[in-house]
Amino acid sequence: MKLGVLILAAGEGTRMRSRLPKVLHDLAGKPLLSHVINSARDFSPDEITVVYGHAGEQVRAQLDADDIDWCEQKERLGTGHAVIQALPYLQKVDQVVILYGDVPLISKTTLDAMLVELHQTELVLLTVNLEDPTGYGRIVRDDANLVHAIVEHKDANEFQLEINEINTGIIAVDRTKLEAWLSKINNKNSQGEYYLTDIITLAVKDGVQIGVVHPDEKEEVMGINDRQQLAYLERHYQSKMASRLMAAGVTLADPARLDIRGHLKVGRDVTLDCNVILEGDVEIADGVKVGPNVLIRNSVIHEDVEILANSVIEDAEIGVSSRIGPFARIRPESRLADHVHIGNFVEIKKSQVASGSKVNHLSYIGDSEIGSKVNIGAGTITCNYDGANKHKTFIGDDAFIGSDTQLVAPVKVGRGATIGAGSTITRDTPKDKLTLSRSKQISVEGWQRPVKQSKQ
Ligand code: UD1
Ligand code: CA
Repeated sequence: MKLGVLILAAGEGTRMRSRLPKVLHDLAGKPLLSHVINSARDFSPDEITVVYGHAGEQVRAQLDADDIDWCEQKERLGTGHAVIQALPYLQKVDQVVILYGDVPLISKTTLDAMLVELHQTELVLLTVNLEDPTGYGRIVRDDANLVHAIVEHKDANEFQLEINEINTGIIAVDRTKLEAWLSKINNKNSQGEYYLTDIITLAVKDGVQIGVVHPDEKEEVMGINDRQQLAYLERHYQSKMASRLMAAGVTLADPARLDIRGHLKVGRDVTLDCNVILEGDVEIADGVKVGPNVLIRNSVIHEDVEILANSVIEDAEIGVSSRIGPFARIRPESRLADHVHIGNFVEIKKSQVASGSKVNHLSYIGDSEIGSKVNIGAGTITCNYDGANKHKTFIGDDAFIGSDTQLVAPVKVGRGATIGAGSTITRDTPKDKLTLSRSKQISVEGWQRPVKQSKQ
């Protein structure tokens, strides 16, 4: 059986009040539509088609991939019309699952259950009971409790409006039947739209017994129409991630104050304090402690590292038992070996720091290679940029850089060299020697401190 996934995403999303198309708004750091596309990919289907419309070119440009066909719905004439537009792309498949670009949290478990059910029948609905079913299509059942029809809220009579079981919109269906039924729908209803839901009545007429599956939780099928709903689903998603982490052996100071926006691989006995944000692909090994207000993006943090409050780490690797922060910034392409200490108000960019070295206070290290057991004094700056080009600084093992030193790159500091505090180093310095460049200190004899003149 060949499977196609059809994602409807031609909605305008006016209630978002945004310049950005609705399905490009982020949930957990990823556009809504990407969540749906990824759910589709979980099935390795033979076809993924996205129906786009309003401002769709932007959506397509941002999310295009080899495995996706894009189908434009020029006029938004209803869900049935949207599916009809996509039929030419689905000719090779036997079964179709229809998802919605603005319903991001649908689970694989639920879709699996629908496909299993589809073995028994030709049309499977995903429905849910809601205390307040306002706005949704109602599931109308017959005396034998079998699904008989879906009636849209705006077309429902007073009895139908009392029904709590609603249509989530997500369906699994035999492709040839879908095509046959869609050829018979019309737009004679209160909204003048072609309703996909009209295929239910047609299926029943054909003697099909409609299959029904329910999701594990209602958030799976909640659509996003405004920013309140977006925020609600974001929190729901984050609280699930937090529960999963705790189950895997991570201590969270407050599960409600952690945000994971990407893919996290985490070891045991990791402690995350309040307001930690983890973005992109992050790996955190056993025993790591992360302090409050720390942002880590696309980085690997090895065993027993301690990251203190208010540090930002991006595209970097931090070696075993290193200590970072508080208030440190580790920028892309930085690699710190084990037992490295990076202290407060230190910025490291595109640099390597070997084992046991320390940069503890107020420094900028950019485009540098720093050996092992180097000590870099407070206020040291690598002057890596001449206004046009970037240049490298090399510092040998065991070097000691005095405070307030400027290393004007390209420059090399020899192994075991000592640089006197306050030096501006413009040439390579020899190993094991003291090098300094500062004007001699003088004391002026007979100098008198000026006194404030009294006003006349
Ligand atoms: C639809 C269902 C309703 C269900 C509800 C669940 C129909 C007729 N009704 O209602 O039974 O309870 O979803 O949220 O199917 N879309 C297009 N092109 C269109 C129209 C819609 O791509 O021409 C897409 C939208 O982007 C959206 C989805 O289809 O992702 C649903 O559209 P929406 O207008 O929200 O459907 P409703 O009429 O609310
Ligand atoms: Ca809707």
